[in-house]
Parts: sequence; structure tokens; C-alpha cells
Amino acid sequence: MSTFRLKIYRGTPGKQYWEEFELKRRPSTNIISALMDIQKNPVNCKGEKVTPVVWEAGCLEEVCGSCSMLINGFPRQACTTLIEPIIEKTKSTTVTLAPFSKFPLIRDLVFSRDSMFENLKKVNAWIDVDNTFDHGPGPKISPDKQEVMYSLSTCMTCGCCVEACPQINKRSKFLGPQIMAQVRLFNANPTGAHQKHKRLRPLMEEGGINDCGNAQNCVRVCPKKIPLTDAIAAIGRDVTLQSLRDFFSFPDRDV
Ligand code: SF4
Ligand code: SF4
Ligand code: FES
Repeated sequence: MSTFRLKIYRGTPGKQYWEEFELKRRPSTNIISALMDIQKNPVNCKGEKVTPVVWEAGCLEEVCGSCSMLINGFPRQACTTLIEPIIEKTKSTTVTLAPFSKFPLIRDLVFSRDSMFENLKKVNAWIDVDNTFDHGPGPKISPDKQEVMYSLSTCMTCGCCVEACPQINKRSKFLGPQIMAQVRLFNANPTGAHQKHKRLRPLMEEGGINDCGNAQNCVRVCPKKIPLTDAIAAIGRDVTLQSLRDFFSFPDRDV
């Protein structure tokens, strides 16, 4: 019988350890189904019955962002990562799994992405709309702009870009590349543009756009192929314009 090993960095904060599990090789097995096999029979390579490995998943189709983990050291989604191509590529039948290192660990492969959602709040990453009366049709958006906005809107707050960014660590306040992309998305919307200043001003502070070192790791790992570095460049220009507006005390266009 052909088998492979999942070597998992598991445990709770301060008490992490590697544990290996041997599993049957099957065509089209992905990381989540391998983890489900362990859940059914949590016996490690030493033959010991252990607590089942804990992980998170929701949509199983790369939309919710909850199954992010380091797979052979690379940040990606467990639900869309097949085992066989990894074995073929690495010529090794051992695949390593670990939780992201830049987020608070909860247990095994589960960590908290709360900081990303808190950062979205800091930049007003939504559009305030008063729906108490009919506004009629919204402003038209050109197809070119729609294309850019659609790509930005596919962000699932998975954290891969944050994990890969060298500027993000325990001591830094950098909001991260995903935030820049979401500011670009909401500012590109003709209705959202009225509150551009609310999204740009937090990016002028410590942790804002100037903390990006332009290493471009983020754009390489984003599972949704969001043009993060383009967004960072565009937001950099907008932040400069906003700081000039503020310097000359131009009025905000909030409605
Ligand atoms: S380009 Fe900026 S945000 Fe992206 S990984 Fe590099 S430092 Fe981080
Ligand atoms: S920008 Fe890409 S990598 Fe970053 S959180 Fe969104 S989907 Fe994930
Ligand atoms: S389970 Fe939703 S992205 Fe993987």
C-alpha cells in the first residue's frame, strides 16, 4: 500500500511539537481530506492514539479564507492544495503543516485572524449607505474599473499576504497589504469615494503605507492573485494627495 506522511506542528501556545501521521495515498486527496482521515483515526506514526488534530475550514472552495496554513512552509489554503502534486514536486512523501506564525495561535493549526478584521475597521473598509429611502440607480462604473474592483473584492482575509510580508512581526504596527487593497477597492467605488479621507488618513500614520518595504512577497502568495503591489502603489499616490489636501486645508468630501 502506498502511503505518505503528514508532519504537523501542533499544540498550544508555548507547547508546540511536531507529530507525524501515516496516511494512504489516494488520487485527488487534498490537505483537508487528509486531516479528516486523521480525525477518524488519530493514531500517530509511533502507534499512539492521540487527540485529533484541530484545524479550521468553511467553504472548501477557497472563498472563506479560514483554512490557511503553512504547507511545506508556504502560506496557502488547505482546501485547494492537493497532496499528489506536492509529492511529485518535492520527491518526498512527507508534507509538513504548521499554523501561521504571525497570528495568535489557538491550537494545532487554528489561529486567530481577528487582527485583520480589526485593521479593516481602522480604515473604514465599507461604504456607509442610508437605505431608508430609494436612491435610484447607482453611479455607473466603467468595465475597466469594474475589472480591477472585482479582483480586489475577491479578498477572503485569509492572511497569506500578512504571513509572507517581512514588514509584519510582533513589534510592527504595519496594517499589511490586504488593507491597502481594500482601501483601494472602497475608494474606487463612486459612492465610497466620498469617504476616501477616512480610509487614507490612517495610512499616513505609523503602520500605514510608509511601512511597506516593497519586498513584493505578498503578491506572490495571494491565492486570489490580487494585484497587491499595484494597489499599494495606487494607495501611495492617493495618500500623498490626501496629505497635500490636508496641508492646504481643503475641505473633505464626506456626505
Ligand atoms: S510589498 Fe509591502 S506589503 Fe507586500 S510583502 Fe512587501 S513589504 Fe509587505
Ligand atoms: S489579499 Fe490575498 S493573500 Fe491577502 S488576505 Fe486577501 S486573499 Fe488573502
Ligand atoms: S475552507 Fe474556505 S478557503 Fe479553504
